[in-house]
Amino acid sequence: MTSTADGTGLDAVGTDIVGTDDVSLERELDQLLAVERFDPPPDFVSRWYRPADAAAAAADPPAFWAEQARTLLDWDTPFTTVLDDSNPPFYRWFTDGRLNVSANCLDRHVAAGRGDKVAIHWVGEEGERRRVTYSDLLADTQRLANGLKELGVGKGDVVGIFLPMIPEVAVAMLACARIGAVHNVVFGGFAPSAVRERMEVSDAKVLITVDGARRKGRTAPVKEAVDAELGDLKALEHIVVVRSTGIAAPIREGRDVWYHELLERADPVAPPEPLDAEHPLFILYSSGSTAKPKGILHTTGGYLTGATYTHRLVFDLDADSDVYWCSADVGWITGHSYIVYGPLSNGATSVMFEGAPDYPDRDIWWKIIEEFKVTIFYTAPTAIRTCIKWGPQYPGRHDLSSLRLLGTVGEPINPKAWLWYHKVIGGGRCPIVDTWWQTETGAILISPLPGVTSTKPGSATTPLPGIFPALLSEDGQPVTEGTGVLVITKPWPSMLRTLYRDDERYVQTYFSRFGRDVYVVGDAARLDADGYFWIIGRIDDVINVSGHRLSTAEVESAIVSHELVAEAAVVAQSDEQTGQAIVAFVTLTGNQSGDDATIAELREHVATRIGKLARPKRVIWADDLPKTRSGKIMRRLLRDIAEGRELGDVTTLRDPDVVAALAGKVAQAD
Ligand code: WT7
Repeated sequence: MTSTADGTGLDAVGTDIVGTDDVSLERELDQLLAVERFDPPPDFVSRWYRPADAAAAAADPPAFWAEQARTLLDWDTPFTTVLDDSNPPFYRWFTDGRLNVSANCLDRHVAAGRGDKVAIHWVGEEGERRRVTYSDLLADTQRLANGLKELGVGKGDVVGIFLPMIPEVAVAMLACARIGAVHNVVFGGFAPSAVRERMEVSDAKVLITVDGARRKGRTAPVKEAVDAELGDLKALEHIVVVRSTGIAAPIREGRDVWYHELLERADPVAPPEPLDAEHPLFILYSSGSTAKPKGILHTTGGYLTGATYTHRLVFDLDADSDVYWCSADVGWITGHSYIVYGPLSNGATSVMFEGAPDYPDRDIWWKIIEEFKVTIFYTAPTAIRTCIKWGPQYPGRHDLSSLRLLGTVGEPINPKAWLWYHKVIGGGRCPIVDTWWQTETGAILISPLPGVTSTKPGSATTPLPGIFPALLSEDGQPVTEGTGVLVITKPWPSMLRTLYRDDERYVQTYFSRFGRDVYVVGDAARLDADGYFWIIGRIDDVINVSGHRLSTAEVESAIVSHELVAEAAVVAQSDEQTGQAIVAFVTLTGNQSGDDATIAELREHVATRIGKLARPKRVIWADDLPKTRSGKIMRRLLRDIAEGRELGDVTTLRDPDVVAALAGKVAQAD
């Protein structure tokens, strides 16, 4: 294994995976590993960053954010109160102001004569193209807003959205925002039972879904599956069905309605409702350290300020000339902030792609970049590692010279993947922004600024203006250089406001360890001598698989719900491809031993309970699990066993023989 110049240890993931025969590329990347920092290209001048901003933000953060909120957004009623911090951690921003998110994303651009501008270049899986302009989006959004009202949806009601990557997903979100309904988007890759849970706990009144979803040439009957799981939910009054693939979809008279019929009969004019800045905009469920997902709540004014400000600054957006593409799914926060709200609020032109990166072939992304002359591309390290494995011949088939800026998000990027991205995709000329943030933070908090910040491969570098991260030691002492627990010490506008209907869990999860005014991120990080942040990873029981957050407890409870299983413990193991992979230690009832068929069955069971991405990569049969005397499963030891490490301290175990037996078994199997 080659060592990195930065010594972060992050290269432990996938250093040797430049799976190409291209020896000279391999050699070049190895040489680049010695380069510790990359200065911004001299001709790249940031459009939006002014050094005075950083000074202003440091001197008076609320005043700085007020300035951003006023200049970037249109307000129906200007705010006079900037930050109400009288009851931490329940912070409120721009409280007496009123605005509408959909008006900021659509109406103001159309009013300024940009209605014919393309908002979304949509690319379907079978090669279809749709040009969706700002006027188109506004027209559909107004009709759907009226349609939702017809179905009885009012201000504050929750609307579920379970849609694939089609433009209707943006319309659905914006229509909710227009009337003050609160959307709750569920990632299209989740199983219907996960949709059910999220609808049930949020009392969703309406669900907007689709007839079917396409994946690599096959069509899954989504509506049918949704009916089977959600048919009896009491609070769910209506299901709106988008006709997308044409696959048969059962329509229950009185409850279900076709999206296109609802739009056809709806009044075309729906004035945007002026909403309090603190009116809830959406809930997005994310995994935490218990099996119950957390309903992260974002509100109107602060969230849109954060998404708009960061999207323009971090991606150096020129709304007139850039073609921007974020390859995430809209069902994650990345999609909310950087496919829908940030780009639309800034009046950008984006690409939206329905399909998979390897269908019909492994060059489809690069083909799209060439065709639409994409200038800014934002993706996840796991996707880059997959492309590395496939080899540089796929991007090599296309002209990628339109690209001028690249971004990553979701997990630490190992320096070699960073360099490959820089070299093979960016042609060595594009700055890379490694953006650190979370569902909870609403918007990017730590990232290089293109044209401003020197980058170091593997580091998210420094905080954006107005953001105040710090590292603390276990006992709460500030760490100025070295590793520690990442915290944010001052509130920022796009932070979550609470966990939906669970204020107590909100305080407990984020604001109990170091006091009520210190936000605890859940990541460990390292701060180097230049003040650069290197994110190490989660310190709670959350697993990051391909940049997707999963809770060990959630996966465990899915496994245990199988009739053959007595007990299960789930841990993460590092994985070249996905960053982390799920390993499940499983005890079967009556101490039976499982075989390959049982493994396949358990994996399938998890797929139907949560979704395919939660399937354990490895299942290890355990006669017993290592527990403390109080009965707590010691995951730390299981991680050591899974990764074949020397076992740590076992003296606190109830039965130390259990680990030895397990370790022996794993060693044999390997
Ligand atoms: C967790 C948040 C933010 C959208 C995608 C994930 C990890 C995120 C980075 C990065 C290292 C990162 C952290 C964080 N993470 N970005 N650039 N470098 N780690 O959102 O599902 O809320 O997950 O993703 O561990 O806490 P999320």
